[in-house]
Amino acid sequence: MNDFKHYLDTVNQAIASIPYPEKPSQLYEPISYHMALGGKRVRPVLVLMACDAMGGDSANALDAALGLEMFHNFTLLHDDVMDNADVRRGRTTVHRRWNDNTAILSGDTMLTIATQYIARCNLWPVMDLFNTTAIEIYEGQQWDMDYENRNDVSVEEYINMIRLKTSVLLGCALKMGALIAEADEQQANLLYEAGVNMGLAFQLRDDVLDVWGDPETFGKEIGGDIMNNKKTYLLINTMQLATGDDADELRHWLNDPFASRDDKVAGMTALYERLGVRQLAEDAIARYNDLAVAAFSQVKMSDDDKAAFIALSNRLAGRTF
Ligand code: IPE
Ligand code: IPE
Ligand code: MG
Ligand code: MG
Ligand code: MG
Repeated sequence: MNDFKHYLDTVNQAIASIPYPEKPSQLYEPISYHMALGGKRVRPVLVLMACDAMGGDSANALDAALGLEMFHNFTLLHDDVMDNADVRRGRTTVHRRWNDNTAILSGDTMLTIATQYIARCNLWPVMDLFNTTAIEIYEGQQWDMDYENRNDVSVEEYINMIRLKTSVLLGCALKMGALIAEADEQQANLLYEAGVNMGLAFQLRDDVLDVWGDPETFGKEIGGDIMNNKKTYLLINTMQLATGDDADELRHWLNDPFASRDDKVAGMTALYERLGVRQLAEDAIARYNDLAVAAFSQVKMSDDDKAAFIALSNRLAGRTF
């Protein structure tokens, strides 16, 4: 297996050479704009790494890898409409730079381009895995939106929601690479399990960075989750722990539609800090990362390959970007 940087370069080069028709420019420009913004490219790199680690040739997995990254970017176009987000990867989101209709239709087009790329490997189990995963993500996104309006969301419901909206795509990326390498079912499923646990740590980290991240490196506006009353691990634990004045203040921030962004984000962040919920999230991240590491350790592959996956999992769990 090669190192992360090698796969990242391969992916970046291939993404930069995806051809888009010139017209209608209002449809295709937002797609090339968004794909050129970069991002971590974690999912396509996982596809290529898994394929090589399972004895395949990652060149055969490149189309599937590109398809998965295109799919991920489609979900971001729609997610930024749903979350009313202004900034992504340090730049203006597509729905703000153009409009909601553009984000919807360019996003739809990206979904179909993604499907075309993934279908090129001509493997039914890969297609089936992709479609099943996509529907799970839509379910997760719906729970995420439903929970904005509920104040009784449990930690268990939250974990299931992030498993669906985020984690299964990381599991899918690893399993897809394994399937293209013709790995046996058991190995492919172990990689899937590793990916799902890595994905749970990944989304918990995203939630932490949404409060305490540096917008320069994180690339998103801080406090979006707080403004949307997103039922993150931080908020759910705060709802369970807050008593007395803290509980009154929490009720105020959750229910005052006229609270300014600055006041609400500062007030909620101070509440999180008083109640120590950041540490609870850090503990949960460490637990899921440990589960990912344990699953990677069980996969039949070289020690060097195991070490590469484990290093990546650790790096993503502790990331600031
Ligand atoms: C953003 O995904 C959405 C989440 C699942 C948290 P990434 O954090 O992988 O975003 P990019 O692709 O690197 O920008
Ligand atoms: C995103 O969750 C999950 C999907 C896009 C499917 P978030 O809404 O937390 O992602 P960001 O923070 O906007 O990247
Ligand atoms: Mg969202
Ligand atoms: Mg979002
Ligand atoms: Mg987020």
